[in-house]
Amino acid sequence: MKKIFGVFGDPIGHSLSPLMHNVAFSKLNMDCTYHAFKVKPNNLENAILGAKAMGFGGVNLTVPLKEEALKFIKVNSIAKEIGAVNTIDFKDEIIGYNTDGIGAKRSLLDAGIEIKNKNILIVGAGGAARGLGFQFGLDGANITIANRTESRAIKLAEDISNTNIVKGVNAKGHGLDNINDLIKDADILINTTTIGMHPNIDDTIAYSKDMRKELVVFDIVYNPLETCFLKEAKKAGAICINGLMMFIYQGAESFKIWTGIEPPVNEMKVKIMEVLSNHTI
Ligand code: ATR
Repeated sequence: MKKIFGVFGDPIGHSLSPLMHNVAFSKLNMDCTYHAFKVKPNNLENAILGAKAMGFGGVNLTVPLKEEALKFIKVNSIAKEIGAVNTIDFKDEIIGYNTDGIGAKRSLLDAGIEIKNKNILIVGAGGAARGLGFQFGLDGANITIANRTESRAIKLAEDISNTNIVKGVNAKGHGLDNINDLIKDADILINTTTIGMHPNIDDTIAYSKDMRKELVVFDIVYNPLETCFLKEAKKAGAICINGLMMFIYQGAESFKIWTGIEPPVNEMKVKIMEVLSNHTI
């Protein structure tokens, strides 16, 4: 019998996760299928228990459910510290994971970028920033968080510095006022905010005059694939990484948790590129 997988969220109609996972199942000849399900936060617990009862293979969670799930499921140590779950496995008991950070890490490694001992400046302090901040902090980078609401940046930096998973993680929080000075000290600059995302494609967190060619510039936005921020980085000659591979790798990590198999990331990438280059979602 076909094994069912899915993504829960609201809105969910534009999710590219079904496309990506179904390509992988088909390529690997696995008798599995992946669907999008519209689930509201007040129905999440029932939806998770229902999926487990019906023998689902696993689910992803997206906006606005990632934080909600922590209220009633067991989660692994990094998802607990991040405070958000994007992957649920049903094999033995119901367990939540967060694969955003490892997805970001794999897309940097793919581009030949080392993380240990690097100064990483993360702009934003929301769920995505938490995922990346903890991951790169645990990987031995020095983390600086810059956020419009400075208190959120300071709180996230404190949470990362106080992690129990690894001792001695170094993180600081700032507002956006002195972002140009912060960029000067950074080896890797990452946008985790929605700035520049479709339809606000002319917005950017920084301009070329503040960047340089040795800087690695990573935008986790993948719609559009080349944001205004990355166009500015390109003008400065910086090394540019878009959000496509992070999206694919966070999905690939979920796939591995559920099946134990590394999915065909290249086929997944080709399919997603096809959709993204035909129209903006
Ligand atoms: P997610 O969980 O997807 O990361 P989020 O929790 O809503 O989303 O966080 C969005 C981040 O983008 C926040 O850091 C937000 O800054 P605030 O904490 O000050 O709200 C940041 N952000 C969104 N729009 C922004 C804008 N126009 N200028 C600066 N920062 C912005």
